[in-house]
Amino acid sequence: MSETWWRGAAIYQVYLRSFADGNGDGIGDLAGLRSRLPYLSDLGIGAIWLNPWYPSPMADGGYDVADYRDIEPSFGTLAEAERFIEEAHELGIRIIIDVVPNHSSDQSAWFQEALAAGPGSAARNRFWFQDEPNDWKSIFGGPAWTQVPDGQWYLHLFAPEQPDFNWTNPEVHQEFHDVLRFWFDRGVDGIRIDSAAVLVKDFDGGDPEGYTDLPEVHDVYRSWRRLCDEYDERLLIGEVWFPDQERFARYLRPDELHTAFNFDFLGSPWDPAALRTSIEQTLATHQPLGAPATWVLSNHDVVRPVTRYGRADTSWDNGNRRDGAPSDLELGYRRARAAALLAMALPGSVYIYQGEELGLAEVEDIPDAFREDPMWHRSGHTVIGRDGCRVPLPWSGDEAPFGFGTGTPWLPQPEAWKKVTVEAQQADLGSMLNLYRTALHLRREWLDDGGITWLDLGPEVLAFTRESGLTCVVNLAADPVRLPPHEAVLLASGPIEGDELPSDTAVWLRTT
Ligand code: NOJ
Ligand code: CA
Repeated sequence: MSETWWRGAAIYQVYLRSFADGNGDGIGDLAGLRSRLPYLSDLGIGAIWLNPWYPSPMADGGYDVADYRDIEPSFGTLAEAERFIEEAHELGIRIIIDVVPNHSSDQSAWFQEALAAGPGSAARNRFWFQDEPNDWKSIFGGPAWTQVPDGQWYLHLFAPEQPDFNWTNPEVHQEFHDVLRFWFDRGVDGIRIDSAAVLVKDFDGGDPEGYTDLPEVHDVYRSWRRLCDEYDERLLIGEVWFPDQERFARYLRPDELHTAFNFDFLGSPWDPAALRTSIEQTLATHQPLGAPATWVLSNHDVVRPVTRYGRADTSWDNGNRRDGAPSDLELGYRRARAAALLAMALPGSVYIYQGEELGLAEVEDIPDAFREDPMWHRSGHTVIGRDGCRVPLPWSGDEAPFGFGTGTPWLPQPEAWKKVTVEAQQADLGSMLNLYRTALHLRREWLDDGGITWLDLGPEVLAFTRESGLTCVVNLAADPVRLPPHEAVLLASGPIEGDELPSDTAVWLRTT
């Protein structure tokens, strides 16, 4: 088992469109991100993961890639991306980019060629063109097939603007090997693999999900791993949503991916038994593989934790977003603070989605006319979708655009965000931003690659010690709980009275 940078890394997810706008057009870009690198460095993160930054018609926020070897013009240029990678490296920050191997944009050169070439052509064989569709449904709603003028149908597990590649075609394999090399050669440190488990399709088995986790998909990642191992310390991380830990673990075998997102933890309700089970299962799954666990509380696809944890049902399920369910945001905020200390105390790497460190809530009142998420459009406006966690960040000042840039942001920001700007939070010692910042710095000091030892403080309290002597206690009971013996309190998610830890509060203690 080698010691590599990602094993304990804090990885900050940048949704470029909404991070910072450098040229005043209301869309976040590389110039904006570069100008904010000192902020990220000061926050104490070890790596940045960027959502797709390639040329894209933005039918799905960039997950419809038109050219895997260039940069979206509204984000910047390839030369600028190269400078950005260098600048980040100078600050000791690694760069992870998103690669989307399941589908391209319908505007990609290959798909346009396929349309022009006609039925039976080699160009069509890079995608799934058939004379008759089957009954598969798109993950965004509606049928998974769209008909083209000559009568054939093509498969798209997501939006019609995202045709699926045919992974039985060796050209597709070759293309993605070249794409990986293209970016590794430019200094990229890791690849986040979008929709990693659905690349391979079985149309004949009659299974309505004959695209999930087929055995051949593992051959793809074995070959990617071999390629990766030709370089120094490059990371492959899979977006793999499975309730089944055994199937999840197969992606982490020593000759496949290094890590995968742990969505089980993200989906767990704010409940001591559920969280404990998730943590134990996660560690048990990863330990024999020697793979580091990952801890994720949010990303660009899910309702923000402050809003989730303030609802009556605090669990998360992609298929049932519960958009607009009533939420006690004060309660959710307190729990989100405690959850952050929990996630950051666990062994492995931790992901932080931009704005999580500001304690932003989901923006649930975006006017319909601004909504862009294909989930919203494809569901006939019945699923609100993911725009509410993608609103441009508030940096400073008292009114929109809150220092995001000089133009009007592509999604409107709530007026209430004047209280939660980076500027306002930097000045407030008790802010979410300072909690994250302090925790990230302490975490570096107290990090070790060992496991955890549970302490028994009752069924409604999660308490464990790391080998380094850091103890994390999270009180999920309604009443305060007495802290275990300790040398010092390092950090707490809320006020502590004497030796009593209040409800929905977490603390880091030094116990040796
Ligand atoms: C998962 C991505 O995180 C999501 O944003 C996207 O819509 C789908 N994959 C399709 O690429
Ligand atoms: Ca811009």
